[in-house]
Amino acid sequence: MRIILVGFGVVGQSLARLLSVRKRELLGYGINPRVVAVVDSGGAAVDPKGVDLDAALAAKKGGGTVADHPRAGQAKLDALRVIRSVEAEVVVETTPTNIRDGEPGLGHMEASFRAGKHVVTANKGPLALALPALNELAAHNKVEFFFSGTVGGGTPILHFAKRCLSSDRILKIEGILNGTTNFILGRMESQGEGFDAALAEASEKGYAEADPSLDIDGWDTACKVVIMANWIMGKETTLADVDVKGIRGISTEEVRGASRAGRSVKLLGSIDDTASVRPVAIERTDPLCVQGTLNAVKFSSEFAGDEVIIGKGAGGMETASAVLRDLLELKRSRAWK
Ligand code: HSE
Repeated sequence: MRIILVGFGVVGQSLARLLSVRKRELLGYGINPRVVAVVDSGGAAVDPKGVDLDAALAAKKGGGTVADHPRAGQAKLDALRVIRSVEAEVVVETTPTNIRDGEPGLGHMEASFRAGKHVVTANKGPLALALPALNELAAHNKVEFFFSGTVGGGTPILHFAKRCLSSDRILKIEGILNGTTNFILGRMESQGEGFDAALAEASEKGYAEADPSLDIDGWDTACKVVIMANWIMGKETTLADVDVKGIRGISTEEVRGASRAGRSVKLLGSIDDTASVRPVAIERTDPLCVQGTLNAVKFSSEFAGDEVIIGKGAGGMETASAVLRDLLELKRSRAWK
């Protein structure tokens, strides 16, 4: 399986590490992933025999670019040219989320489909803005489009709902979908830490978006709400349909006050007849009341009733594991190595 890796930030670099440490097991699954190009905003590293990923990771140290890769680096080679000209089966798209116009990820995905390449992504922006159109373009070009890393980090929330609940009708989805805000609110509640200090820690640990206002103002959760509404519930929802309120204005006193009353403030995303994102003080005994960067999602179905899935919702290796899961899924659906 020849892969073009577009975007070499927290998730892209984590995937490079994961492919190295899992090499033997992957061969056991009948998959031999070969990254033939890595692209970042400074250029690309291209090698049809397989880019040396350790050297690519070393080139990124201290704010560098893969264009400085000793053998394969090429400055001025951009993602669209690589996608169109380098032979590969799959494009893994992990550039930062942008919810204004979805770029550059949206253009990368469209170019990949038109070039007959499958796409695996953890980039939420293009999906929140254009999921139905992207699915249509992928189908038109007879390629696959997998995006389980866009919701729940490493936790298979989309797969759970689509597969396990496929025989039932999901009436409502509600949950914590953003690890960064849950981490910040938890720090404020348990340690009385200030908002800014907790956010700085979340960014340093690689949980927050490249633009952390997406997390704290609720837009990251809103993107996930839109992806789930479209893909799981078949609702043609866009970001404009979601009533969004984040946690920026919440004080440590407010969080501690709720805590004294046996409640925790959580940023909840919710979809039924309407879609919303808002901070809510929930009972500490509520199954959705999870700690740290965990995500927790409750599916309320017509016959199965309520089911809750909980797992790690943010972090580079966690999200990279979802990308790898999608690559394995792709292998299962196609016949090559
Ligand atoms: N910034 C996101 C979060 C990453 O904190 O949940 C995972 O989508």
